[in-house]
Amino acid sequence: MQRGTDISRAADVLRAGGLVAFPTETVYGLGADASRDDAAAKIFAVKGRPRAHPLIVHLAPGAALGDWAIDIPEAAHHLVAAAWPGPLTVILRRGPRVALATTGGSDTVGLRVPSHPVAQELLRAFGGGVAAPSANRFGGVSPTTADHVASDLGDDVDYILDGGACEVGVESTIVDLSRGAPVLLRPGGMPREAIEAIVGPLAAADAHAPAAPGTLASHYAPRAEVIAVEPHEVPAAVAAARGNVAVLAPRAAFAAWGDLRARAYPLPDDLAGMARGLYAALRDLDALGVDVVIAALPPAVGLGEAVGDRLRRAAGPRGA
Ligand code: TXA
Ligand code: MG
Repeated sequence: MQRGTDISRAADVLRAGGLVAFPTETVYGLGADASRDDAAAKIFAVKGRPRAHPLIVHLAPGAALGDWAIDIPEAAHHLVAAAWPGPLTVILRRGPRVALATTGGSDTVGLRVPSHPVAQELLRAFGGGVAAPSANRFGGVSPTTADHVASDLGDDVDYILDGGACEVGVESTIVDLSRGAPVLLRPGGMPREAIEAIVGPLAAADAHAPAAPGTLASHYAPRAEVIAVEPHEVPAAVAAARGNVAVLAPRAAFAAWGDLRARAYPLPDDLAGMARGLYAALRDLDALGVDVVIAALPPAVGLGEAVGDRLRRAAGPRGA
């Protein structure tokens, strides 16, 4: 594994059908040429991810959307014009340049134009679409630094493009626009409120929505057991927990709880700071040998919806 800041080298690796981990504003991605079945197949092998779970295709600003999706509804044009570049993925019908392996055989594709300058430089230098899931093993905590990627994937990735710590810290919001009315498949780095201001109310996923494996009950999970509770339930949850226990909550919340007999792991009090610090905190808590993490759920507004979603999934039943 090589690591550095060499964009043209990273683009060469993509052109050769190799794997490049690269920073985005949300989390680090594990990228490959989205137009090549053999390149996309390597992502599934390295991640240990089921081949039917589709990958998001990352595009440079100004890429021709019609190459990557077909039958694009007016609402999608409207939404991406306002929201890209940024932490939003839209699901559309798959276009001719997307390899079938990239979408796990699906006739829909997730597209996103990231705002991170290093991601944009890479996409421009490469010139095509880059298929990329989060650069971690399947089911684990997404990486928000190059160190996280190196410790998760090591030599299984050909080049790690180091762009520092990710600004947003949780994955993109996913909106399905392939079937008419917009449906929220995954809350994420672009708050629901910002999207609804552009396209109107987002429906919840129903049985007909395309399956988004990031929405499995157990995902984004550290080694430690995570118990996600409302803030007022934290003291009782700590009292009931056994082993090496930690509490993950906004710094200001701790004052109300007094002496908890647990390790305190404070996060910033603002929702953006919580999102930015969440995954590094879960990794730190594992490194500290914590057995049980009692996590206080934030209010489900703005980025709080995504933070709460990830905490609940980290707490979900293993093996689901
Ligand atoms: O912020 C992000 O979205 C990051 C960065 C690297 O861009 N990527 C990311 O990828 O989180 P991943 O693979 O870890 O999660 C992508 C989610 C999965 O739940 C996948 O099922 C869903 O997007 N997805 C992708 N294409 C889809 C499609 N055609 N239909 C339904 N769901 C799709
Ligand atoms: Mg992921």
